[in-house]
Amino acid sequence: MAIEHRSSDWTEYKMVYDDPHRQVEPAEREIATVDDVLATLRGQGIIDAVGYDHDRFLAHRAAVAEQFEIPWTAITPRMQRLLYALNAIRKPAVMVAAGVFCGNTFFSNAGAGAGPGACYEAKELLGIEIKPDEAERAERNVRRIDPTGVARIIAADAVDVARDHPGPIDLLYLDADGDAARGKGIYLEILQACYDRLSPGALVLAHNSINCAERLCHYLAWVRDPANMKAGVNVMIDGEGLEVSAR
Ligand SMILES: C[S@@+](CC[C@H](N)C(=O)[O-])C[C@H]1O[C@@H](n2cnc3c(N)ncnc32)[C@H](O)[C@@H]1O
Repeated sequence: MAIEHRSSDWTEYKMVYDDPHRQVEPAEREIATVDDVLATLRGQGIIDAVGYDHDRFLAHRAAVAEQFEIPWTAITPRMQRLLYALNAIRKPAVMVAAGVFCGNTFFSNAGAGAGPGACYEAKELLGIEIKPDEAERAERNVRRIDPTGVARIIAADAVDVARDHPGPIDLLYLDADGDAARGKGIYLEILQACYDRLSPGALVLAHNSINCAERLCHYLAWVRDPANMKAGVNVMIDGEGLEVSAR
């Protein structure tokens, strides 16, 4: 049985995909929506705190808006804040993101550990994108705001990278849309390829838990089995959704 966290307005809340920096609701409402999610996740034992630095988050958001080339994104402002907050709270030494397109989805996670919004010292923040030209653009974007190289993008198949990563992985973010046969169903392959190297309490975040729920049915059934993941919540604050699971 999936635990759901629904904001009252998740069906009405909309962004414009090719205008990702437009504010679509008052800041207080965005903050309150994300705070409610964090409280639910803490209640389920998935995270152990709910606080994050709002000014650093805004520095991160501003740098991405100014420096990133983003043709489109489905990461809503709410989701951007939530991903940043989860990383700021969990502070993963190693974060791996699969299927990062132009890098916005990756840096919504990595921005808590690199760039002007960094709030902890990370060891490796790795984004994986299978299309070489997209990986190049994502890497260009990331280099503009993280000169250190801690956050970086590689052009590769996320299943291979997950299988070969030495671990431990503290946070795994899934957004790859696979090929025509697998689509987002590839999430389960990626997770299973590195499952034995997830650290205790590792977070696994799966984007599109709502609008791709059908394609993700095997993944969702697997992570919702307590034999595999100790806890999870389907976060419904926008039309995309995020399945948050803890190892
Ligand atoms: C739809 S995009 C994610 C976009 C993101 N949700 C956003 O809103 O910015 C999914 C990306 O996954 C990549 N991808 C598909 N299969 C992959 C794989 N096996 N390994 C790595 N990346 C993959 C695609 O090339 C694509 O750029």
